[in-house]
Amino acid sequence: MSDKTIRVLMVCLGNICRSPMAEGILRYKVQQQGLNIETDSAGTSQWHEGEAPDRRAVQNMREQGIDISDLRARPFHHTDFQEFDYIFAMDKSNYEDILSLARFDEERQKVRMIMNLVEGNQDVSVPDPYYGGPMQFQRVYDMLDEATDVFLFTLSSR
Ligand code: 4NP
Repeated sequence: MSDKTIRVLMVCLGNICRSPMAEGILRYKVQQQGLNIETDSAGTSQWHEGEAPDRRAVQNMREQGIDISDLRARPFHHTDFQEFDYIFAMDKSNYEDILSLARFDEERQKVRMIMNLVEGNQDVSVPDPYYGGPMQFQRVYDMLDEATDVFLFTLSSR
């Protein structure tokens, strides 16, 4: 991997379930592997600005040995296109909402649906677990665990 710090932003709707989980999983792996990667997350809405992640997300992640209770929700800002190298959307509507704010191709090219990292998962959305139960949070965890593994592997083999 290059010496340059790589900045990664995870984005969902509320920034209290999927994207803080994605940030927490990636942050954990980055710390474990001693990588030069900065992580953050944001929501396409500002509904939960300033809030900690949903307690079900915190609980699920705690069961995997990862603490995300320190994270706080914030809305996506246009300046994030400059701040980050990779902007990962959790689902199709997040993807379209972010793209609608982009002004240049250089900005658009930074935005991907996160599951597109995983072969055979083109345009697959990470399902919104907000109205679901523990099984939905576990499904989100498993999907994001796989996608972040592929992301780090791809970076390491460049
Ligand atoms: P997230 O989940 O986008 O994964 O953070 C949601 C959180 C809150 C709401 C919807 C989805 N909400 O309607 O408040």
